[in-house]
Amino acid sequence: MTWTVPGLRPGAVAIVTGAAGGIGLAIVRSLAAAGVRLACWDRADANLERAVAECGLAGAEGLAVPVDVTNREDCRTAARLSESLGPVRYAVNCAGIDRLRATVDMTDPEWREVLDVNLSGVLYCCLAEYDLMRSRGGAIVNIASMSASVFNRGALPHVGYNASKAGVVQLSRCLAVEWAGDGIRVNSVSPGYTRTAMTDRNPTELNLALVANVPLARMAEVDEIAAPVSFLLSDAAAYITGHDLLIDGGLTAW
Ligand code: NAI
Repeated sequence: MTWTVPGLRPGAVAIVTGAAGGIGLAIVRSLAAAGVRLACWDRADANLERAVAECGLAGAEGLAVPVDVTNREDCRTAARLSESLGPVRYAVNCAGIDRLRATVDMTDPEWREVLDVNLSGVLYCCLAEYDLMRSRGGAIVNIASMSASVFNRGALPHVGYNASKAGVVQLSRCLAVEWAGDGIRVNSVSPGYTRTAMTDRNPTELNLALVANVPLARMAEVDEIAAPVSFLLSDAAAYITGHDLLIDGGLTAW
């Protein structure tokens, strides 16, 4: 179910990276339902047509923007393209990858790949978005993870992922302070286990073991992540910046 959040500005433009993925697509749907126009960023080989089609279904304008977020120049070009929809007010940096591997078995390219996409990618997107927002203000939400705060009990070693997501939380806090004077709020959202292609790739026994640690005893649905993201972008969250919102079914409560 797509939740429509009050306090978003109809006709405003939002950038969503990772827009073809599970959580990104749900965020696109949630914003489009509020009349926000969407610049949908994802890799050139991703299914961006689907994201644009979802915007059309909601009666909102959508634009497919192929980009590799690990390439700083690519992000700048994508930002310029996005402006063709109008002044950009919102951005959600959601593109991310995961590589499951015990730390001692991890290769250097695997470590770098995860940090490049999940941490440098978020930085490059934020910088490109800042250029678009600095004269008018705006709101950015970076998608981190519950894995920024805990080791994933139930055997999910992925130190590069966890370290990159902890970096996203702290990066977001720093940008919130640096850019407050420009009227730009920056927050992060840290989802717990959420049903998407990322978790569908896990063996069933692993997913069962992970859910056994969740007080609400299930994974999140993507729309349950998208609605709080929309809230943080909206004027209803006008006094919230530098915050990390955990959406984890209670996992980190015990
Ligand atoms: P997904 O795999 O469905 O979507 C990720 C998207 O990022 C894909 O469309 C992919 O093409 C895109 N992407 C990857 N590398 C890229 C690059 N270099 N340039 C541009 N786009 C790129 O994954 P999901 O589950 O929707 O995850 C979205 C975000 O939420 C990720 O940052 C992930 O780490 C985070 N997250 C997911 C959780 C889950 O349980 N599914 C839990 C916590 C956080």
